[in-house]
Amino acid sequence: MIISSPNDFRAAAKSKLPPFLFHYIDGGANSEHTLGRNTSDLQQVGLKQRILRNMEGLSLDTELFGEKLALPVVLAPVGLTGMYARRGEVQAATAASNKGIPFTMSTVSVCPIEEVTPKIDRDMWFQLYVLKDRGFMKNVLERAKAAGVKTLVFTVDMPVPGSRYRDMHSGMSGPNAAIRRVMQAVMHPDWALQVGLMGKPHDLGNISTYRGQPTNLEDYIGWLGNNFDPSISWKDLEWIRDLWDGPMIIKGILDQQDAKDAVRFGADGIVVSNHGGRQLDGVSSSVNALPSIADAVKGDIKILVDSGIRSGLDVVRMLALGADCTMIGRSYIYALAAKGQAGVEQLIELYEKEMRVAMTLTGAKSIKELNRDALETTHQALLSGKLL
Ligand code: GLV
Repeated sequence: MIISSPNDFRAAAKSKLPPFLFHYIDGGANSEHTLGRNTSDLQQVGLKQRILRNMEGLSLDTELFGEKLALPVVLAPVGLTGMYARRGEVQAATAASNKGIPFTMSTVSVCPIEEVTPKIDRDMWFQLYVLKDRGFMKNVLERAKAAGVKTLVFTVDMPVPGSRYRDMHSGMSGPNAAIRRVMQAVMHPDWALQVGLMGKPHDLGNISTYRGQPTNLEDYIGWLGNNFDPSISWKDLEWIRDLWDGPMIIKGILDQQDAKDAVRFGADGIVVSNHGGRQLDGVSSSVNALPSIADAVKGDIKILVDSGIRSGLDVVRMLALGADCTMIGRSYIYALAAKGQAGVEQLIELYEKEMRVAMTLTGAKSIKELNRDALETTHQALLSGKLL
């Protein structure tokens, strides 16, 4: 299969993965309306071509929380990354590190923190949910700190799991799920050998280390379902703030007032996100939520954004609309599933190349220069309310 664009990885991943895994990453909540809008709204953002502005020396470097990033892209936290490629967290983190960007490990990764950090040349970021088991939260934060993690991404849009109907159909959950997954693995021998057999243990590494016993896929669904904490409020975050002395980023913000509250709370960053359309179907796309949030808090807090980004061009659109940096989830998981570490490195190169073309042709020579001037005039007017 020829891979010439970031999107080509999706089809490659689809043919390689057992359907329960492909659909788990590809799907969203309920009727997947928000999932669709994340990408379609983003494509509607028009850019403005500028010419003859001497773009020699164009640079994609940026700085975030004292870290240098080769381009404004971070690998987002994704649960079960290690089911998409053999020891997938290690492969993805190595690719990110080789390409000069951070990798964020999910709480529910397959590889534990301690398996990944010694293998990479830069600091890993770590993501945490608010869970009922505060003992686990404390334990995992201590371990992350001991492993050299400085940046914590705190996911707050999952007080309850979203309704992911695709998972029931695909065999991720639902009747006879375990047997259906085995049958699917048999039909995908490359995955079965590389990940199914050679990628073991298929544990939730961070949780089993804490519990002192192995954790399997059934535990994943069950543990997540039972352990999210619907009582979460800003007060719970104060407890974490006291435990964590590095940068803290709050992920899952779609509302201007919530963004202001994050500033008041003292967070270092926010992620404008609808969890990739996996939580509340019907909410705004991230790209549509971003401009008003940027109007409210730009400069007071670092603004990251995810949900819908599938290309370097999309990164440029998000930055033009006010983001300081982007996160990609599905996009890199498709590449990882298709071609492992080399696939993720190739994907990051493609993003970089697309960004260079887009910045050259919009006249932005650096990330700092990339702002609403890069947007098509009608889009600028729309944002300033003149066309509303
Ligand atoms: C977990 O965060 C998921 O979206 O499945």
